[in-house]
Amino acid sequence: MFDFKKHIADNISADIDKEMLYSSIVNTADDNMGDYSLPCFKFAAQLRKSPVAIAQQLAENYLTDEYIGEVKAVNGYLNFFVNRSAMLTDTVYGVLEQGENYGNSNEGNGKTICIDYSSVNIAKSLHIGHLGTTAIGGSLYKLFAALGYKVIGINHLGDYGTQFGKMIVAYKLWGNDEVIAKEGVRALQDLYVRFHREEEEHPELTEQARHWFARIEKGDPEAVKLFEYFKKITLDDVRQVYDRLNVTFDSWNGESFYNDKMDKPLKFLEDKGLVTVSDGAKVVDLSDYGMPPCLLVKSDGSSLYATRDIAAAFYRKEHYNFDKCLYVVAYQQNLHFRQIFKVLELAGLDWAKDLVHVAYGMVSLEEGSMSTRKGNTVFLKDVLDRAVSKSLDIICTKNPDLPDKEKVAEQVGVGAVIFSALENARIKDITFTFDRVLNFDGETAPYLQYTHARCNSLLKKAGMSYLTRIARNYSGLDDVETLRLVKLLRNFPVIVSDSAYKYEPSILSKYLIDLAQAFNRFYIGHRVLGEDLSVQNARLSLVECVQLVLRKGLALLGIEAPEQM
Ligand code: ARG
Repeated sequence: MFDFKKHIADNISADIDKEMLYSSIVNTADDNMGDYSLPCFKFAAQLRKSPVAIAQQLAENYLTDEYIGEVKAVNGYLNFFVNRSAMLTDTVYGVLEQGENYGNSNEGNGKTICIDYSSVNIAKSLHIGHLGTTAIGGSLYKLFAALGYKVIGINHLGDYGTQFGKMIVAYKLWGNDEVIAKEGVRALQDLYVRFHREEEEHPELTEQARHWFARIEKGDPEAVKLFEYFKKITLDDVRQVYDRLNVTFDSWNGESFYNDKMDKPLKFLEDKGLVTVSDGAKVVDLSDYGMPPCLLVKSDGSSLYATRDIAAAFYRKEHYNFDKCLYVVAYQQNLHFRQIFKVLELAGLDWAKDLVHVAYGMVSLEEGSMSTRKGNTVFLKDVLDRAVSKSLDIICTKNPDLPDKEKVAEQVGVGAVIFSALENARIKDITFTFDRVLNFDGETAPYLQYTHARCNSLLKKAGMSYLTRIARNYSGLDDVETLRLVKLLRNFPVIVSDSAYKYEPSILSKYLIDLAQAFNRFYIGHRVLGEDLSVQNARLSLVECVQLVLRKGLALLGIEAPEQM
């Protein structure tokens, strides 16, 4: 697309570095004040003139052309008014030419980014607490891929620990394969809950569990077989939810994968003189940094969550040579990540600076909105099912003749749930209510999907593909609604890169809401179909751009856009 800022910088005749000029030009906030603006304050010292005088003189010397129609000096600012039909033409051609690739770039080419997200625990189901990490991690995955990065999605499975000894005991005592086949991981979770209940009255169970855990560790065939069975049941179950949420993983190496990979990193830390022994345990003292010690090896010789995370960081650096490694994990684990990042930094590893804890807040359900089963777990699958069935009800009332209602309801319901985790700055705690996230007129995914479908139906009514329809003449469209839309469309690539580099998909969510609202104002204010042909085609081309960007933006959030709603 044509770079108006560069064009302006090139055409300003002043004794100022071009790069400096270029980076100083901003988009104006108020369309009445022009489209781009150069604040002249910071040049005053160098040019020995007042900002007002600088702006005045630059305005007088600036030659307008087919791109910049007018220049005005106002209170030390130099304001540029672009030729709107040139900007419109450039936008439409730029967006439609790039099509599905609009917003992509190759700035990440040759770079790798690891994203540790969702990271479930074996024998436990995905619950509402996993929504944040799964939606945010899934979106960051797509955003970085769009910027040309090689992305490695990692599900750091919680597949190690004494609880699996307990699972085996519970399974042997009360397990029923038929029930497990039918109910999947929920049945396993029930067994675990039952173990804890019975353990209180039968303390010998604890000893048996310890025994079975030791057998898993030794690689005893029966113990390993049972563990693998639990793992398969869990993964079969969570994969179904992942498919619905449109997320994928490139590695499922979990905690147990690092069982035989901890010695080297431990020795490395010891050689650096970081490890001290305290009450028989190996720790790294972090009191100088206001943190409790990082526990690496317990006095009985067993490793910890932190030990396995340190081993995982070494492994990932060695194996993927990442430029960044993100951990999309709830803020409850802030201390854990601060500790292990600090340990690696103290060990002199320069890549410790590339580890990032992408923390997020808690998602909770509105009181009473869903009856929870025992153990108070709200399963993510149930939340999705509920949202989908409510969507189906809404669709049946709003548009009973819609073909493929079930499929659309799935896209709308699931999309609404995903969006609820991505609409606010990720660190905020949120309370989820079905009515709010499914409100077709609110700031929601269904509103975005609905706007997308509206664009689609306009295009369909008009017929023709954009190649034949694409307008050549945009001169009649100089109203404010169109201008807003055009500026938003031009900004999409910046939004994609900002959302990625700030690890904040909510930037994209908010942008899409702005775009949809701007479109609906445009749509209410102007006739798209039935105007004279040249205006109709110009507006239709714009509609097509909006449709494309909404669709692409939603896809980057992991949300599908039905053609009709
Ligand atoms: N399974 C862990 C949990 O449920 C999350 C793991 C996050 N990733 C990591 N590398 N520690 O809390």
